[in-house]
Amino acid sequence: MASRAILAVVVVVVAAAVAAAAAQLDEKFYGQSCPSVEAIVRREMVRALSAAPSLAGPLLRMHFHDCFVRGCDGSVLLDSQGNSTAEKDATPNKTLRGFGFVERVKAAVEKACPDTVSCADVLALMARDAVWLSKGPFWAVPLGRRDGRVSISNETNQLPPPTANFTQLTQLFAAKNLDVKDLVVLSAGHTIGTSHCFSFSDRLYNFTGMVNVHDVDPTLEVQYMARLRSKCPSLDDNTTLVEMDPGSFKTFDLGYYKHVAKRRGLFHSDGALLTDAFTRAYVERHAAGFQEEFFADFAASMVKMGNVDVLTGAQGEIRKKCSVVN
Ligand code: HEM
Repeated sequence: MASRAILAVVVVVVAAAVAAAAAQLDEKFYGQSCPSVEAIVRREMVRALSAAPSLAGPLLRMHFHDCFVRGCDGSVLLDSQGNSTAEKDATPNKTLRGFGFVERVKAAVEKACPDTVSCADVLALMARDAVWLSKGPFWAVPLGRRDGRVSISNETNQLPPPTANFTQLTQLFAAKNLDVKDLVVLSAGHTIGTSHCFSFSDRLYNFTGMVNVHDVDPTLEVQYMARLRSKCPSLDDNTTLVEMDPGSFKTFDLGYYKHVAKRRGLFHSDGALLTDAFTRAYVERHAAGFQEEFFADFAASMVKMGNVDVLTGAQGEIRKKCSVVN
């Protein structure tokens, strides 16, 4: 009995600590110090996305990759220095785009409010606006993150690979205090954007290392596989881009779930959502509709992801330029 009581106390204390850490971010954090920050980010995002709508996907993905490695601390934005290779130059991040644009938006924010707004917060706002300007949900972004000073390429092994199965996905998400619902909800970020052929061509030509046309991922629907093969004719294709949500890859909608439900998810990890009863039911329900419910879920999970291991208070710094520490 005594040990159960101790356990209960520990659970309460841990839960309170988690809530307190999350509570350190605040939607009105820059209310006094930089009231125009959201308007500046929005103005820049509207400009950029009207010229290049395909930037929305990379910016959403960049925030995710930031949060999964050392928390949402802008570490993904730092350049490599001398012998120390930063996250940015690790394999999963070589396909990220938009670093120059983040730097431009940060410069615009710096001009209005010098040394005040972190790169991590600028990126969180850009990701929210990327979704909203793609006709997805809007949410208030809790702010007050500080920027880290460390970025280590090897730590990107905390990012889920496209080959991951359900167990690996849930473990990698759980390591960031994100649960199975967050996994199925946030995976729908794949309703916008594009992917290189090499991120999934093993499913078409080399699923078990045999390198032949019969060595395919059996979970991928065959007609879709044929279509993907015509777009990605070989394993060595390093340049071709494929729409992640064919037909509506610029619009944040339920398209992702409709494709996954038909076994047409682009990555093995997308298909893996059909291998668990809970995530499968979520995919099937949202393939059939309930966009409002999905939008509310996505907003909630983004706020949760945006809280992962954040630096606050006197921790870290407010970088002047996002690619280098002060
Ligand atoms: C669940 C595990 C996930 C895996 C394994 C995964 C993997 C990938 C891969 C391999 C790409 C293609 C990269 C390329 O070849 O260019 C990609 C693209 C993308 N991912 Fe994920 N991802 C995951 C979760 C997420 C989450 C949580 C989000 C955001 C909430 C997200 C947003 C995106 C977006 C928007 C793109 C398109 C990027 C572009 O247009 O350049 N992904 N993802």
